[in-house]
Amino acid sequence: MVWPLPQRQERDLKRGREAAAASATAAKKLDLASRLRRNRKADWARRLVRENTLTVDDLIWPIFICEGERTRQPVGSMPGVERLSVDEAVHAGTEAAELGIPALALFPFTEPGLRNEQASEALNPENLVCCACRAIKRKVPNLGLITDVALDPYTSHGHDGILRGEQIVNDETVFVLVEQALNQARAGADIIAPSDMMDGRVGAIRAGLDAENFEEVQILAYAAKYASAFYGPFRDAVGTNATLIGDKRTYQMDPANSDEALREVALDIEEGADMVMVKPGLPYLDIIFRVKERFGMPTFAYQVSGEYAMIMAAAERGFIDGDKAMLESLLGFKRAGADAILTYFAPRAAKRLKEMA
Ligand code: PBG
Repeated sequence: MVWPLPQRQERDLKRGREAAAASATAAKKLDLASRLRRNRKADWARRLVRENTLTVDDLIWPIFICEGERTRQPVGSMPGVERLSVDEAVHAGTEAAELGIPALALFPFTEPGLRNEQASEALNPENLVCCACRAIKRKVPNLGLITDVALDPYTSHGHDGILRGEQIVNDETVFVLVEQALNQARAGADIIAPSDMMDGRVGAIRAGLDAENFEEVQILAYAAKYASAFYGPFRDAVGTNATLIGDKRTYQMDPANSDEALREVALDIEEGADMVMVKPGLPYLDIIFRVKERFGMPTFAYQVSGEYAMIMAAAERGFIDGDKAMLESLLGFKRAGADAILTYFAPRAAKRLKEMA
């Protein structure tokens, strides 16, 4: 039936009023069997149902080592982070141990005059990383020390490998990396962490370590490491922004890929990795999740320099609450399946967790 217009409007109005009345009644009481908010009603209730927790045991503190004594050089793009001379790095080691942080990861700022095409300083038993390892071990023997295997802080061109023409040559680089790893193990490194992304380096390093009776030295493979814009501040810290020619896309992974990360991880496990890492962190939580699900290996995440810098910069400007964003981002890694997190926030997070306990 086609009603005349005014009558239709009146009908619609009436129906509208009825519907509004009905929904007002419903708003007083919905018939819901499940109300998820019940478990959130108080702090004690939220604690009971909490699925993931962040503790100090999850934290690895990356530090930068520089020449000198009693020297602390601020890194401009990483507020709160300083390069430390070896004696200051020992203090950082003591602080880490006091806070209960299980391990440090060491990165050098190599003097520009010591960088060359062959990265020979990487093999110097007296280089900054080796000196720091020995000094920290002497003072805090129970603190884990992780050393980075890659040539970028030592090459004049800032690449992680040996450059021939326009190519980073894989196999030749791997031979140098094995020597670098042995140099670090002799200085007392507990965990060797190849971050170079050459093919076959984990197996070669494992064989090299075993041949020198370093069976106990672990390998943390930067298994899925992406060619990322988030490494910028780190490259300031180790001085490779100044040296790097081109980019690292022929060896670091394409950010578009995910299945390929699983192949990288599978190979590193086959080759003898004790733990695997995904890097960067927050933009790659899906990779952490897939890796943990597929392999069930100790899986570490690296909250890299650019992630740290973003949180710090936003907090400094008052856009976000720095402490809360820090803890939320770290908890996100745990939820995704990470067992441990390398983070420049490590000492700050450890302190906050202690205060909250
Ligand atoms: C070098 C290395 C990098 C990082 C760790 N090891 C930078 C790079 O690959 O250029 C990045 C860490 C960070 O950004 O915090 N092989």
